[in-house]
Amino acid sequence: MPNPTLLERHPLLVNLTGEQLERVSRAGDVESYNPNEQIVVEGSHGDALFLILWGQVAVHRGNQTFGTLGAGEFFGEMSLVEPAPRSATVTSMQATFLFRLPHDALRDMIAEDPNVASVLLVQVVKTLSERLRRANSMLSSVDLLADWLAGSMV
Ligand code: CMP
Repeated sequence: MPNPTLLERHPLLVNLTGEQLERVSRAGDVESYNPNEQIVVEGSHGDALFLILWGQVAVHRGNQTFGTLGAGEFFGEMSLVEPAPRSATVTSMQATFLFRLPHDALRDMIAEDPNVASVLLVQVVKTLSERLRRANSMLSSVDLLADWLAGSMV
């Protein structure tokens, strides 16, 4: 069983009761990755959610990096919410420890205990909102740059 102190500090799980946390920890496994290992691959079938306990990963498609994620963050939720292939590749940037929670185990837990569902889903929605805010602000910067370039060429 994974070290519960690493898990219980993770923001996705911090509002669970001790019993709920115990169930989550039994449902998954800790995995370790060396730098530069592909953890999930764009287009592959997504069957697990990953909580980052330690280290850092890059989310990318080929050379285009969408972002980096570190301890306390998570990835793999998009193919949980919707049964779609992985939307991006995720690669470890340094030695990284993850908690891998299979989607099936998570869905079973959510069905058994609706409180777990609301606690986890609120955290997932908060994270997705934050990512959307960041994407919007990047798009605004790109628009500003495009306007500036168009202006400087006349
Ligand atoms: P999933 O599609 O299951 O697998 C790849 C994961 O990368 C995806 O879930 C998200 O968790 C993560 N991801 C995709 N796009 C971004 C982004 N723009 N910023 C941060 N994480 C992302």
